[in-house]
Amino acid sequence: MSLSSTTDSTLDLLFPAELISPEVSSQLPKELHIRPLASTDYRRGHLSVLSVLTVVNDPGEAAWVSQFHAMRGAPRTYYPIVIVDKPTDKIVAVGTAFIERKFLRGLGSVGHIEDIAVDKSQQGKKLGLRIIQALTYISENSGCYKTILNCSDANIPFYQKCGFQQKENEMVCPF
Ligand code: ACO
Repeated sequence: MSLSSTTDSTLDLLFPAELISPEVSSQLPKELHIRPLASTDYRRGHLSVLSVLTVVNDPGEAAWVSQFHAMRGAPRTYYPIVIVDKPTDKIVAVGTAFIERKFLRGLGSVGHIEDIAVDKSQQGKKLGLRIIQALTYISENSGCYKTILNCSDANIPFYQKCGFQQKENEMVCPF
């Protein structure tokens, strides 16, 4: 099967496509599609888009697929999503929600937003905003009592436009 003929139902997805916000899907231009990460997305430039964010060491497809299955093996925890350009079948934006279960707040959960990146050629077209809206929808529909993220000072205005407020500080212990 050619990659360009794929649809959600023919793909091996990391989590059910029903968890993607229908409203966010409908707000994308018709040539773009938002969906959960698929086991064949290594070939659609997943790492290339992530390299917009930070250094990415390509582990090769087999190791990438192994990581995909490790994430899926922890159900209701990892929610990586992608926006795909349908004509080229290439990924143009990515992001992940990670659901952390707690003992406090009545065994509550917190949604963490991680690894947001939009391909340079597609920045400024609201794709970052759509990724954040879709991840927040997943977090809210997973029963989380809040969604949090860490970012650089330069990205604070972007997240404020996405509805987030600045609160507290980030501490790091680098290894
Ligand atoms: N400073 C000020 N405003 C910004 C910035 C910024 N750095 N980036 C976006 N905005 C504004 C836009 O102008 C737009 O405002 P508007 O609604 O008034 O028009 C709004 O935020 C939404 O912007 P988008 O078009 O959705 O932004 P884009 O698709 O370019 O995505 C992103 C933003 C994700 C920061 C992108 O530029 C990117 O991939 N950057 C490199 C990687 C990166 O820094 N990722 C975030 C790391 S933090 C984390 O992963 C939790």
